[in-house]
Amino acid sequence: GFASFRTIVRDAFEHGYAVGHININNLEFVQAIVDAAEAEEAPVILGVSEGAIKYMGLDYTVALARTAAERAKVPVMLHLDHGSSFEWVVRAVRAGFSSVMIDGSHLPLEENIRLTQRVVELCHPLGIDVEGELGRIGGTDDDLTVDERLATLARPEDAEKFVSSTGVDALAAAIGSAHGRYKGRPQLDFDRLVAIRRATNTPLVLHGGSGIPDEDVVRAISLGIAKVNINTENQEAFTATVRALLQKNPDVYDPRKYLAPARDAIKETVRAKLRLLGSSHRV
Ligand code: G3H
Ligand code: ZN
Repeated sequence: GFASFRTIVRDAFEHGYAVGHININNLEFVQAIVDAAEAEEAPVILGVSEGAIKYMGLDYTVALARTAAERAKVPVMLHLDHGSSFEWVVRAVRAGFSSVMIDGSHLPLEENIRLTQRVVELCHPLGIDVEGELGRIGGTDDDLTVDERLATLARPEDAEKFVSSTGVDALAAAIGSAHGRYKGRPQLDFDRLVAIRRATNTPLVLHGGSGIPDEDVVRAISLGIAKVNINTENQEAFTATVRALLQKNPDVYDPRKYLAPARDAIKETVRAKLRLLGSSHRV
C-alpha cells in the first residue's frame, strides 16, 4: 500500500530535507519516477493534477500508482494535486488516494479556511493527510492558470491562523515561485519563508519547483520547505527526447522506440532532483 504522507513529510521537516512530489502524466512517468526513487533509496510522492486524472482516468491513475507502490522497496504516496473542490477530494479519497491537496487559494481567507476545514474533517478520520494553500501561486499547471498580476504571496499572520484553524499536515505558502516555465530568475522571498515557518511550525511545500536555481532550492529546504513539487522539468525532458529522436529517425513508428528513451530521461531528471532535495538514502 501507500506510505503515510504525514510521517514521511514530517521526517523531512524535522531532518532538514524535502520529499519530492513528482507529477505523473502517463505510465512512463510513473515507472520512471518510482525507478528513480528506488535507485536513490528515496521516498516519493506521485502527484496528480485534475487535468492528469482527466487524461488518464481516475481508476487507471490509482491502479498504476498502486502497482508502483506495491513493487517499490521505497515509500510511495499518491497525492491529489491542487484539488479544486470538496467534490474532487471526495472522488480522490473514494478512489484510493493516500493524501490530498485542497487549493482554496483563490478564495478569501475565511472561505479558504472553511473549505480546508471541511476537507480535513473528511480526510483525517480516514487516515488521509491534507495539504492546503495560502497566497496564490502564479503561472500555469494544467487546467489551472493564475495570471502573474493576480499572484499574491502568503502572509505569515494568515498562515498562523490558517494552520491553527484547519490542522493541515502541510502548507503550500506562496513565496514567489510559479508554475510552468520562468521568465528570468524566480525571486523567492526567503524572509517571508522564515516568518511563515516561525508562525506555523508546519512542513511547508514549494510549488513550481521546476527551473528554480539549485542553490535557492537548497536554501528554501534549510528554511522549512519539506516537499518540493516538480512537473514541468520532467515534461520538458520527456518531450525534448521524443522530439530529438523523431527528428533524427523519421522512419520510426513503434511508440516504444521513443517512449523508452523519454522515460529514461525522466528517470535521470528525477534522480538528480531527489539528490538535490537531500531525500536520497533516507529509506
Ligand atoms: O503542483 C505542481 C507543481 O507545483 C509543479 O510545478 O510544473 O512548475 O514544476 P512545475
Ligand atoms: Zn503546484
